[in-house]
Amino acid sequence: MKSTMKEKYLLADETISKQNIDELIAWLKTGPWLTQGALVREFERRWGEWLPVKHSVFVNSGSSANLLMYDSVRLSGKIKNKKVIVPAVCWPTSVAPAIQLGFEPIVCDADPDTLALDPEELERLLRQTGAAAVVMVHILGVPANLDAILKLKKKFGFILMEDSCAATGSEYDSRRVGTFGDISTFSFFYGHHLSTIEGGMVCTVDDELHDILLQIRSHGWAKDLPPDTEAGQANAHHAMEFNRPFTFYYPGYNVRSADLNARIGLSQLAGVDTVIRRRIENHAIYQSRFQDAGFDCQKNPKASICSIAFAGLAKNSAHRDRIAVALRDKHIETRPIGVGNLVRQPFWPKTGGRVEGKVADRVYETGFQLPNHPKLSPDDIHYICDTVLEVE
Ligand SMILES: Cc1ncc(COP(=O)(O)O)c(C=O)c1O
Repeated sequence: MKSTMKEKYLLADETISKQNIDELIAWLKTGPWLTQGALVREFERRWGEWLPVKHSVFVNSGSSANLLMYDSVRLSGKIKNKKVIVPAVCWPTSVAPAIQLGFEPIVCDADPDTLALDPEELERLLRQTGAAAVVMVHILGVPANLDAILKLKKKFGFILMEDSCAATGSEYDSRRVGTFGDISTFSFFYGHHLSTIEGGMVCTVDDELHDILLQIRSHGWAKDLPPDTEAGQANAHHAMEFNRPFTFYYPGYNVRSADLNARIGLSQLAGVDTVIRRRIENHAIYQSRFQDAGFDCQKNPKASICSIAFAGLAKNSAHRDRIAVALRDKHIETRPIGVGNLVRQPFWPKTGGRVEGKVADRVYETGFQLPNHPKLSPDDIHYICDTVLEVE
């Protein structure tokens, strides 16, 4: 077994560098505007060029991005019913807005390879329920089976919401995830591919959804809209000139971020391609070691996988417990895969929206995460693989 000198192998480590902090301090010393302003718009523009996508709306977390994603779809009137198919394997705030906003969620089991929506089950549920919307989550950064899901979108005409919060930089068929759905989200929390301390982005090519997002992000007012669009709103609603900036068109939130966070985001964006390369290389080592050993793990042959962590599936819960002990002894952090199976979480409603989730149950009972971040070298990854693969 290779021996490396790390004291701890964390699942997530700091990505904001000393240089990023120096840039931030230099900027702060100029006495800049700190709340949402020109730098937020600049960060949105640069992110949109990088992804690429037409519209990006910066918010204070990936969870807030998901909340706005659901609510903009709901408010747009683009859906003919409130049935939404959600994945059994996900993060809680990938699906919590469905409950909070009065959707009727229907849970879809996971595909055993990607751990995202199982296309066969999705088709069955679409036929059965006529759901107008589908939420797709790229689990830990591994792209879903997009060919099959996009085929179903063509056939059934649902609105596709794409939670890419853990998948910045992953590609499917040489195209970045977060550009496949009608609307998509990203997280910039600590330890993600790119961090603004807390932060998130909602992205879309749809002008109408974008207009709604800009309004519900800030109290429901229209001040952040392009001037012509704001004028259209004011005219349509006969807003008095004096009251116009404080006319509220939607029941909104305040989930803005700030120029301070955008300043960090701009520095982080400048280095994101290096971070992505390291994560892709680390993930590929994990995958080939696990597959060579016949150990079940997440995969998608059509994808370039820039994961946030690597997911393995032990033979059974007892095997996972033994792996967890071996990892703990070597100071290697681990944890479950998201919610495991959504319907086994106490927050999920006990009635309705429950399915037999065979794969999701396997994820809940045997799934575990292993560290992948840019501070881990190929030798570190081999060391972690050796630790897990030696466990009987
Ligand atoms: C798939 C997914 N969705 C949403 C979120 C929430 O993002 P945030 O922590 O920025 O609220 C996460 C967090 O990691 C996530 O993995």
